[in-house]
Amino acid sequence: MSERPNLVAALTRDRPLSRNLLLLIGLVGTIGTLAIGRHHRHALWLLLVLAPILVLALTDLFQSHHSLRRNYPASARFRWFFEWLRPFARAYFVESDLDGRPYSHDERALVYARAKGEADAHPFGTELDVYSDEYEWLAHSIAPSRNAPRETRVHVGTDQCSRPYQAARLNISAMSFGALGSNAIEALNLGAKIGAFYHDTGEGGLSPYHLKHGGDIVWEIGSGYFGCRDRQGQFDPSHFADRAAHDAVKMTEIKLSQGAKPGHGGLLPAAKVTREIAETRDVPMGEDCLSPAGHSAFSTPIQLVEFAGRMRELSGGKPVGIKLCVGYPHELFAVVKAMIETGILIDFIVIDGAEGGTGAAPTELSDRVGMPLREGLMLARNALVGTNLKGKIRLAASGKVSSGAGIAMNAALGADWCNAARAFMFSLGCVQSMRCHTDTCPTGVATQSPARQRGLVIPEKAERVARFQQSTLSALHDIVVACGLNSPDEFTPDGLRQRISAVEMRSFDEL
Ligand SMILES: Cc1cc2nc3c(=O)[nH]c(=O)nc-3n(C[C@H](O)[C@H](O)[C@H](O)COP(=O)(O)O)c2cc1C
Ligand code: SF4
Repeated sequence: MSERPNLVAALTRDRPLSRNLLLLIGLVGTIGTLAIGRHHRHALWLLLVLAPILVLALTDLFQSHHSLRRNYPASARFRWFFEWLRPFARAYFVESDLDGRPYSHDERALVYARAKGEADAHPFGTELDVYSDEYEWLAHSIAPSRNAPRETRVHVGTDQCSRPYQAARLNISAMSFGALGSNAIEALNLGAKIGAFYHDTGEGGLSPYHLKHGGDIVWEIGSGYFGCRDRQGQFDPSHFADRAAHDAVKMTEIKLSQGAKPGHGGLLPAAKVTREIAETRDVPMGEDCLSPAGHSAFSTPIQLVEFAGRMRELSGGKPVGIKLCVGYPHELFAVVKAMIETGILIDFIVIDGAEGGTGAAPTELSDRVGMPLREGLMLARNALVGTNLKGKIRLAASGKVSSGAGIAMNAALGADWCNAARAFMFSLGCVQSMRCHTDTCPTGVATQSPARQRGLVIPEKAERVARFQQSTLSALHDIVVACGLNSPDEFTPDGLRQRISAVEMRSFDEL
């Protein structure tokens, strides 16, 4: 039975005065002001402040959803205000340069500086604690190399592939149109065109914004088969062949899982399925758009590699890859074994780490499911080396790569190239406010709102995307030279060291 408002009872029932302070200020103030206002009309202006306090306090006192607001009318609202203010206060006033998650202030500052073409040198020495257990470093040589080429590329495509691709060492990781707005997609693609690297579509399909500027595309196919599905949501070969034939599509990729939410599908609510998104994904407009947790086109490792082989044929011989965050190692080994048994080789494998990003995911999956990049990458590398396939099948890595050192360290563990998602978002202006799932992104990156996207000016940001990639590869080149190598391909696990106690270190081949 709902409670009947009884102000006197509510105020007097075992309530210390302090709990009702704002209510009393509102009540007494409003009555007093009305009384004084009869003689001094300008005093009535005070009602503009006092009356809302009174209304707010009375609403809180008699509502039944929030205990805090019921017990502390009006004043409890300060808690929500400070809760809202907390991330800003922490980011702007409390955090040190090395704090901040997922990316520290320093990591972000480096991307911003490189994207803007500003000085990115660090003065006075490292701020990292080189004696902490987390410290890792690359071994340099007493004989730095003299002739290392500034740019090297990775040949992707086994001999089963008739249209191989030369991939850059750093590319834009999968992020769908839908998770990102059209301006962001355009700016990324134009940046990829300027810098001659690739842009992965993400599983949300190949939109007109991916194709407008002619940057190289890797078309990712997830469990929803967006852009290549029939009415029942199954893979549609002829539809796939049509779109994969586009000149800009250089490779295709089957998404098995992603580190931030492995084994989880997704749902784009009906309200967000705009006409453009519906057309891009081949789904009905105004209905919830579901990505199932798993694929319907295959269910065993052998079927997976056969499906990959079919995609390669349908795309006219373009390289085909898979992307996954490693779960059970034996499942990854089973895929490698299936390649050996069938003789069908997948051209590349992207290993995504549990530390990877997403537009939105259940917290438990982000925090506690999936293997971190390092371990996943080493398992994949060892599986390919052990089966003699490492020379044919390329390995890529994604998971918090934002600097030349990140690429070099992953190269030491077997990655031929790296993909980055959030670092490229920073280059577009993302400020890590972590509101990507609310459609209220303040920088216009992860939103469909035209008003918010207005802030993201495509040609300006495209230049930043290209500059960030270029300067990061230039930093990678500096490391290659310092380590006495001629190419990132020459990094090896024994060149990557990790502190394991205050007085001990191990190289990654020992670990
Ligand atoms: C906004 C956003 C959307 C993403 N969408 C996809 C997607 O559609 N498909 C996919 O495979 N990965 C997706 N990812 C994961 C990234 O491609 C990448 O694997 C992961 O974020 C790790 O890279 P990072 O640490 O550089 O961000 C998304 C990530 C973000 C931040
Ligand atoms: S600014 Fe915030 S909401 Fe926008 S993309 Fe970055 S983290 Fe997401």
